[in-house]
Amino acid sequence: MSPRYQRLERKALGVLEQNDRVTHTIPSHGIYTHAWLWDSGFIAIGLRHIDPTRAAQEVDTILEGQWQNGMIPNMRFAPGTPDKIMWASRRHPQSPRNIQTSGVSQPPVLAEAVRRVGEKLDRDDRDAFTKTAIGRIAAHHQWVYNERNPNGNGLWAAVHPWETGMENTPTWMEHMRTLDWGISGNVLHELGSRASHLVRRDTKHAPAHQRADRYEGALFFMSFMKLRHARYDSKRLDGGYPLHFEDVALNSIFVRNNQILEELADEYDMPLSDDLRESMSQTRQSLEQLRNPVDGLYYPRDAVSGRQVKIPTIASLMPLYAGSSPNERLDALAKHTQNPETFGLPFGIPTVPYNSPYYRVGSYWAAPTWVNTNWLLIDGLKRSGHDHRAQRLARSTLQMANIGGMHEYFDAQTAEGLGAKNFSWTAALILDLIKQGY
Ligand code: GLC
Repeated sequence: MSPRYQRLERKALGVLEQNDRVTHTIPSHGIYTHAWLWDSGFIAIGLRHIDPTRAAQEVDTILEGQWQNGMIPNMRFAPGTPDKIMWASRRHPQSPRNIQTSGVSQPPVLAEAVRRVGEKLDRDDRDAFTKTAIGRIAAHHQWVYNERNPNGNGLWAAVHPWETGMENTPTWMEHMRTLDWGISGNVLHELGSRASHLVRRDTKHAPAHQRADRYEGALFFMSFMKLRHARYDSKRLDGGYPLHFEDVALNSIFVRNNQILEELADEYDMPLSDDLRESMSQTRQSLEQLRNPVDGLYYPRDAVSGRQVKIPTIASLMPLYAGSSPNERLDALAKHTQNPETFGLPFGIPTVPYNSPYYRVGSYWAAPTWVNTNWLLIDGLKRSGHDHRAQRLARSTLQMANIGGMHEYFDAQTAEGLGAKNFSWTAALILDLIKQGY
């Protein structure tokens, strides 16, 4: 145990133990009772330091929920929950028959997790685990090109904010407000109030002002109902469904994990198809179309109208994690991480810059800082030669968890812990940062 962070490490281990459900780790007791895609990836990255076999299982559990069309859903449900009825994803013929899942995906961090877990496994275990995972992850990434690429430009056009895992970031909310949902704003507000009584459970576990508000909840719910109605089949969505959003964080994570997938496939001599490699290279190039030359930040784009939503958020910096942009572009992003007026707050990088009119103190993905996004940026800063900045951010993230506890998210000015308590990816990635020697 590293002497410097002994207490913190013990706390992190305690949270992972408490949330352990044998085949997977739930994100947090009470509020999040299923296995989530990107949570499982991050949790595996932490768990590899204490039990690499268990970490591999974490990834395998989420991979088992893969659909025949390649999609890895964002949630694999715990048995016996009402969510399977609400989602009704079994109506899609390619959903798994014996496992209950949701019907949309989440940021594809599994190639990253597989490589890092593999580094800690014995040779034989590593080979078996990695080879199986490569095939499945390649099918998932191919699914993106088949089902989420309406313009053929290689960018993942998400059909629901849940697919980015960063639900109420202001770019998403502002964009969703402008779309024609075939229903008036007043009716939406009304729906928001009613639906929140019926289906929302999050506000029972965390104060309402720290969560998405009712109007946002109504937008999530309504777009979800349309997807459900189309049986999560992108062909049935054509035309009538307005939301196809080329999100920057999602695509940056996709670019990086495409690259790791290619490296693993080369190492294991498991050829990826030329088509897939060609699409991956297109994603890398198209990410640059999202860059605004005026401020050097990257902004999401409506895949239908081509309109960009130029509201800075933490996603604007995520090409740092992708690591595929020219050096001077990455350097410009790296500088933003230390600007005290925008992203350079005392504890971690906030999801929305401090000087933005959209900064909503304490609210979920609309101001607070999250350990997973800090971890992605630390990794990107390090790979792009900004060691000093990576170290600063890692230390402030560790300090934040020391002060605020193992919460879901934090106030980046005060380190106050917010949202759910004893949150697994916070614990896992804090453990990983400690083990990396920060
Ligand atoms: C919240 C987060 C999402 C996460 C899920 C489970 O919905 O926004 O990113 O995967 O909780 O922890």
